[in-house]
Amino acid sequence: MPTQPLRAIPDFFYGTAWKEDRTAALVELALRTGFRAIDTANQRRHYFEEGVGQGLAAAYRAGIVTRDDLFLQTKFTYQRGQDHRLPYDPAAPLSAQVAQSMSSSLDHLATDCVDSYVLHGPSSNYDWTDSDAEVWEAMRQERDAGRTRLLGISNVSVEHLQQMEASRAELPAFVQNRCYARLGWDREVREFCREHKIAYQGFSLLTANQEVLNHPLIASIAASASATPAQIIFRYANSIGILPLTGTTNAEHMKQDLASRELKLPPQSIAAINSLSG
Ligand SMILES: NC(=O)c1ccc[n+]([C@@H]2O[C@H](COP(=O)([O-])OP(=O)(O)OC[C@H]3O[C@@H](n4cnc5c(N)ncnc54)[C@H](OP(=O)(O)O)[C@@H]3O)[C@@H](O)[C@H]2O)c1
Repeated sequence: MPTQPLRAIPDFFYGTAWKEDRTAALVELALRTGFRAIDTANQRRHYFEEGVGQGLAAAYRAGIVTRDDLFLQTKFTYQRGQDHRLPYDPAAPLSAQVAQSMSSSLDHLATDCVDSYVLHGPSSNYDWTDSDAEVWEAMRQERDAGRTRLLGISNVSVEHLQQMEASRAELPAFVQNRCYARLGWDREVREFCREHKIAYQGFSLLTANQEVLNHPLIASIAASASATPAQIIFRYANSIGILPLTGTTNAEHMKQDLASRELKLPPQSIAAINSLSG
């Protein structure tokens, strides 16, 4: 059982991948629009974490939010997921790499504690390895030292989670995975999470599920709810227990994505969308 408290967990995350020099402006816009949870990573290949910090600083200066209003989540990424712009010394032991990456994240985000610190992905696609155990222990130490409130793991299979459990490792407070409708929206992992009180964050809800997004059934549910198909997917995800991420770069989509939380999706619509899933 996780020992970490599941408190003040937001219901929609704004994701900051692939935004490069637009990162700061888009983070500020997301906060102005009403997002309060920001997902990033200390992985310069896909994220510009320093830009996230600049966006936060602009929002603080403009009086939109304070640090206390926000849920900040970042990640530790193994060298194999990075390019040459590493946030740690690759020759250092993994536990030192975690400490260095965390310290650099706190600098980028100008905070002394993030809300969630996520292992970007286990070192093997199949097993929970000794390297993962070392990194996870180092992340636990970061948590115990007060540099993160909660811990998470991303890109994880049910086998990884079962192996963690079998090795008596502390389970994460969060899982963050790509969610494919054809795999029952990651059914197996979500079931494990439900049983173990782990909050499940889903990404690529639109991009990985174009066949559902563009399905006539979704169009008709959207029309009867006066909503867009994307809003229906986000609302559906939320109604089956997924905390959605969006990385939209569009101001109108930001509003629509947040507004999806208010939509009423009747049980027959949820059942109909279930029928489109694997
Ligand atoms: N842990 C990991 O390994 C991992 C991997 C991938 C992503 N992530 C996280 O998840 C976040 C989201 O990534 P994602 O893969 O879900 O993709 P994404 O970057 O959110 O892309 C979503 C796509 O959907 C469109 N979209 C969003 N809202 C829409 C709306 N209301 N109507 C129509 N189109 C809409 C966006 O276009 P517009 O920009 O035009 O709106 C964009 O093309 C990332 O930024 C990152 O934080 C994590």
